[in-house]
Amino acid sequence: MKQDLSAPVITIDGPSGAGKGSITQLVAKKLGYHLLDSGALYRLTALAATKSGIALDNEEKVGELALSLDVKFVPGEYGEPVNVLLNGEDVTAQIRTETCGNNASKVAPLPKVRAALLQRQRDFQVFPGLVADGRDMGTVVFPGALVKVYMTASAEERAERRYKQLKAKGEDVKIATLLSEIQERDARDSGRAEAPLKPAEDALVLDTTGLGIEEVLVQVLTLVEKTNGTVI
Ligand code: DC
Repeated sequence: MKQDLSAPVITIDGPSGAGKGSITQLVAKKLGYHLLDSGALYRLTALAATKSGIALDNEEKVGELALSLDVKFVPGEYGEPVNVLLNGEDVTAQIRTETCGNNASKVAPLPKVRAALLQRQRDFQVFPGLVADGRDMGTVVFPGALVKVYMTASAEERAERRYKQLKAKGEDVKIATLLSEIQERDARDSGRAEAPLKPAEDALVLDTTGLGIEEVLVQVLTLVEKTNGTVI
């Protein structure tokens, strides 16, 4: 589908592990909006490069790959993209690994990659509306968004949340390793020249350290209600 500039957009940006993904899904479900997990596109680009043996710092080649990615998001019961297909192959689990996330943050600074993914992301802006999760949704991809939220939490808390998630999946991980990976990823995402991770000037900054998901959801929905007059 092609971008419809009159469809409302809610952007949810912030560092890895701040809980954006869960909040984005809940807000999209509540409003019946479409969902864009923009990180998945960077993860898919990194995965496609690894599968084709292309070095992650080869901007020309990785940029070409990003432009021609054959991606399909298969919506779940509430319209969430639960399954992700790359060239017809279900890569949902492969793109969710820590390695793929770290590789995604290595291809993400490349200007050709960001340019290649820009319109693909904007084409998610269709009726009845969109909730977009990422790093530069409010600053670069949808600067005219109706509601902008920047979710953050201390690196220690984000590492702990991730640790619990991975442990629940039966993965053997160390919290100290996760913390240093999160700190490295934050530094790469915030320090890059192109579309660095930072709150948009008109974003509501929500520090979720010590907050439960329900409390965060209420704050986001209250902001949406105040902004567009929708009673939720
Ligand atoms: O949100 P995530 O963990 O799936 O994102 C993976 C990486 O992709 C992240 O480290 C930085 C990059 N990314 C980005 O640069 N811009 C976005 N809008 C989303 C993700």
